[in-house]
Amino acid sequence: MTQSRSTWLGCSLGSLLAVLVLVLQTMNQEAEGANILGVFPGHGPSHLIVHMSVMKALAEKGHNVTTISTIVPKVTHKNIKQIVVPLITPEEEKLLNSGISGMAKEKGSIWTTMKVMVGSMSMMVEKQVELLEHPRFQELHQNKDNKFDVVFAGFFVNSYLVGLGARFNAPVIICWSGAPMLWVNKFLGNPELSTVPQMQIGVAQGEVMTFQQRIQNFVSTLSFDALDAYLEIKYKHFYNRVWGSDKSMPSYEEAKQNVSLVFCNSHAISEGPIRANVPAVVEVGGIQIKNKPDPLPQDIKEFLDKAKNGAVLFSLGSNLKGEHIKPDVVSTIFKALSSIKQQVIWKWEDLEKTPGKASNILYKKWLPQDDILAHPNIKLFITHAGKGGVSEAQYHGVPMLALPVFGDQPGNADKLALSGYGLSLDLNSMQVEEFKEAIKEITENPKYAQKLKAFSQLYRDRPMSAQESVVYWTEYVIRHHGAPHMQSPLVKMGFMASNNYDIYILAILVLYILVKINKIFWLFIWRKFVAKNTQKTKLKQN
Ligand SMILES: *[C@@H]1O[C@H](CO)[C@@H](O)[C@H](O)[C@H]1NC(C)=O
Ligand SMILES: *[C@@H]1O[C@H](CO)[C@@H](O)[C@H](O)[C@H]1NC(C)=O
Repeated sequence: MTQSRSTWLGCSLGSLLAVLVLVLQTMNQEAEGANILGVFPGHGPSHLIVHMSVMKALAEKGHNVTTISTIVPKVTHKNIKQIVVPLITPEEEKLLNSGISGMAKEKGSIWTTMKVMVGSMSMMVEKQVELLEHPRFQELHQNKDNKFDVVFAGFFVNSYLVGLGARFNAPVIICWSGAPMLWVNKFLGNPELSTVPQMQIGVAQGEVMTFQQRIQNFVSTLSFDALDAYLEIKYKHFYNRVWGSDKSMPSYEEAKQNVSLVFCNSHAISEGPIRANVPAVVEVGGIQIKNKPDPLPQDIKEFLDKAKNGAVLFSLGSNLKGEHIKPDVVSTIFKALSSIKQQVIWKWEDLEKTPGKASNILYKKWLPQDDILAHPNIKLFITHAGKGGVSEAQYHGVPMLALPVFGDQPGNADKLALSGYGLSLDLNSMQVEEFKEAIKEITENPKYAQKLKAFSQLYRDRPMSAQESVVYWTEYVIRHHGAPHMQSPLVKMGFMASNNYDIYILAILVLYILVKINKIFWLFIWRKFVAKNTQKTKLKQN
């Protein structure tokens, strides 16, 4: 009796398991070898590195990835079919560069950032729309053989990309190259909290903003909000320009409420600030960093291998070119770097016209930055403090000297200096001696490297690597055909309801009515009893 029951149990357990395995298998099959599209209209090479690294993680898992971008991606894979549609003309390139070099010559602040965003970058915003109107893009959805299981949108001031979901009848995942911020939070109802500093405010991990910083944070949140409100008008206009005439397409407002996930290139647990994220915000900080570095080009490898006194990597990123920096600043940098004992790799575009010849300096136009930072002889990274470079240096435990210019860079620079990962100087006002002193301090005082080692251990300690997170959550979205169940109600609540303003208004109204009723009541009592009695007394007296 007991035995038969247990066999029966065993049997049913077995069949249950079999069913489970089958279900799991079909679930896997659905997500395996999926067709994935990445639409990356932005012009920032550093953003594209992040987006393409996300795509690469999926390609490595065997998915069939197609990408369309306006610049040539540096990150590639054999499973990625790349379509490149160059849209920027040389004249426009000049205009954009002049905006960036304008910023490089002033001290970077939230205001210069805003000025550039509204000014020369507004062209950049408009330019991105042209990708969606280009025949190469149109072909992607007109070709009936194409069927995409998920579409990635590379975010940077291009919210109209939310229309991609309806266009390809596929869930949309947004890819963002920074930490969760206002402009991407709105897609998922990720809350903006007063404890969370905006990107340009540097606060060390675990520290609280000062009163002044909170005022700054408050004002900059409002400014970003205001800028976003202005951009929203543009987004809607562009959305309608591209898709407005198509009756099968939803409105911009509807499409905006249909984003499944946002991948952010940050890792709050190690980097801070700690903030509450809705489940659809997935942090994949350091996605662009390879677990195992690629072999270095021969000349760089030899140059670094023979650096007995260590080596310094100097790069101001992919947006800022040598010609953007004031000549006297370039000469200051050259004087300092040519007189230190370390070998220096200097990212410089115009190899015909270098800042000067020195036996310890190697100029290179483009650098495999992540692979170089992984080299054991690298003792210092002199950087503009862009998010990508800072994470790479942090991952490899290389101390930094920051020379920030604009955007999130001043904030990143303050934060890395406050956290003890290096120092920060003002690019335009620094003197040769000051610069050399800073290099000496960082390369000779072991405290920076120690701090970074501790950070690096935290940064790498995760339940899933950045690549595994990308694969898991993308396949999750594919399996469930989108993730509406993960969406915060905030997305649909509107401005009044999400801030409870309607309740405040009601409360004020109720209070007002209560005060009024109260007043009428006492007036009534007064008239009925007090006033009457006084009148009577008065009459009697008469
Ligand atoms: C990969 O995806 C593209 C775009 O949907 C499609 O044309 C191609 O046939 C796919 N290749 C494979 C091997 O499935
Ligand atoms: C929402 O996304 C789904 C795919 O998850 C897509 O089929 C649908 O057309 C989208 N709807 C809107 C209104 O964007």
